[in-house]
Amino acid sequence: MTSRTQFLVAVFFVLICFTLISVRTTGQPFMMSAPQLLSDPFLQLPSETSVRVVWFTEFAGSDHRIAYGENLNQTAVATTTKLSRTREDQNSKVGAQTEKGQVYKEPTMRDIWRHEAEVTRLIPNTRVPYRVTSVREDGLNVTSAEFTFSPKPTTGTHLKILLTSDHQLKPMTAANLQKVVETVGRVDAVFFVGDLVNVPDRASEWFDDNRGGALFPCLQGRANYEMDKNGVRTSYSGGELIQHAPLFTAIGNHEVMGRFSRSGSLNDEFDDAIPRAVAQQLYQHSGRLKPNKAATLGDRWLKDNSFNTDTYEEIFTLPESSQGGKTYYALTFGDVRLVVLYATNTWRFISVNAGDKGKYQEPEQDLNNPPEWGYGQHIFEAIAKGSSQYNWLKQELNSAQFQQAKYKVVMLHHPPHSLGGNIVPPYTDPVQVINRDEDGKIKAVRYEYPKQADYIIRDVVPLLEAANVQLVLYGHSHLWNRFLSPSGMHFLETSNVGNSYGASVGDKKREVPTGYEEDYVATGDPNGLDPVVPTIAPLLDDDGKPLPYVASNEITVFSILDTAVGMVSSYRFDTRKPGSEVVKFDEFKLH
Ligand SMILES: [Fe+2]
Ligand SMILES: [Fe+2]
Repeated sequence: MTSRTQFLVAVFFVLICFTLISVRTTGQPFMMSAPQLLSDPFLQLPSETSVRVVWFTEFAGSDHRIAYGENLNQTAVATTTKLSRTREDQNSKVGAQTEKGQVYKEPTMRDIWRHEAEVTRLIPNTRVPYRVTSVREDGLNVTSAEFTFSPKPTTGTHLKILLTSDHQLKPMTAANLQKVVETVGRVDAVFFVGDLVNVPDRASEWFDDNRGGALFPCLQGRANYEMDKNGVRTSYSGGELIQHAPLFTAIGNHEVMGRFSRSGSLNDEFDDAIPRAVAQQLYQHSGRLKPNKAATLGDRWLKDNSFNTDTYEEIFTLPESSQGGKTYYALTFGDVRLVVLYATNTWRFISVNAGDKGKYQEPEQDLNNPPEWGYGQHIFEAIAKGSSQYNWLKQELNSAQFQQAKYKVVMLHHPPHSLGGNIVPPYTDPVQVINRDEDGKIKAVRYEYPKQADYIIRDVVPLLEAANVQLVLYGHSHLWNRFLSPSGMHFLETSNVGNSYGASVGDKKREVPTGYEEDYVATGDPNGLDPVVPTIAPLLDDDGKPLPYVASNEITVFSILDTAVGMVSSYRFDTRKPGSEVVKFDEFKLH
């Protein structure tokens, strides 16, 4: 035998031995790694006597169940569904792929199964231990750690609720949520006002981005996100929150995917949303769709050719309204009536020089190619007076459950009042203006956003004020600031969680276009309120003057609603000083 043959024989012998030992001890071939859960379980849709538990795996498996109660001797069996649009692509940071395109060259389906079990006959205000188990096809099983659940709290129960948004795998998110748990302990619910991830059909952004900061790991204390500040490396795990507390979410622009599979990457697909009405018109005109065919092809066709929130809706089990399903809804949670709106539009670029779809215009290269237009910052779900959502909101605000609630809270992703950049242009349907030359050739496509037609300011806010809403919570601009309307309604944007997009004050102006019919506001709140200076410990500017906002990529902020006293408290943590204390810097009371 040559030495090479001897080596191969030796390797073969060792492999056989390992296999025999492995099969003997586990009953399974050794090459099979132990099954894993893709997420820890988390709580959804509690009722007075029940709660749902949801978790994910990368195998279909069988016998997915919860063990709960004293001694974990009760069982609830899960229903399993498969996520229909989750994929990875060349820009995913997942598994072995740390550089662009190492593993995935293009959007590729990723098989993920979702398990949900409902536990019933629970006793109000009583916490019960639980854990979940999934069994893989080969018979091996995996069990989570032990957590606790309880049904919906009754009126009068003192609750601490985390108010958060815009996690999006941003650098400070894991630190933020870790500090929440270290500062106030486990909360009773999480109100999340949109932008959970960046590209919702990219599975790893929810579950296992290899930089350690995906959505579920951060909200479940299983993140592993390293920050490097001034040469000091600190690893943050996020907070073990939603295993024990229900999560209620609103749709932000980052929950919405654009036209399905028309472009070469998931990021492009995210940017490729067009209005539903345009989709129908476009494809009928192009002859790719016979008149009335869209109706027969149904919902799926329309979503594939405009935009969809399918992954978001497949992941979460939320309260539903008859008109809006999960996309807008209301619920009572202890003393809180929470009204969740679907108020977000697609985000477009200021500059179209690189060929990007613009807020205010279409790029030159696409002028004579309407299927490539972005249609400006179009709104995904109508909320203007007369729309289904507006009518539903009116009805909700008139309901007994709403009016009798001690705390009336409304959350919507788009800001009514903000110093941030994303409040401009106004929240209204873009008005398209097409300029042509004598031959009818298109020379420019522009969009205007008439300020007097801002649907949030014109239609929604007056309804909320008339209904005595105490708190309007929103996100989208990634900063902390708050406002108080003359009627005493509080507005809070506590979205300086993972990063900031800055505050438009003084010399720091928003980028706004010139030569347009409308005047787009470059600094301050375009809707006329002055920001409130934090009541306890505002940050100071260079001259030592208190700042009425936090817009920082070093300091992260979280806010807690404490229903025992009706107080909303905001805290900041300086990630440059990992050992430093969390500082409560603002609080205000809901009346
Ligand atoms: Fe955001
Ligand atoms: Fe947003």
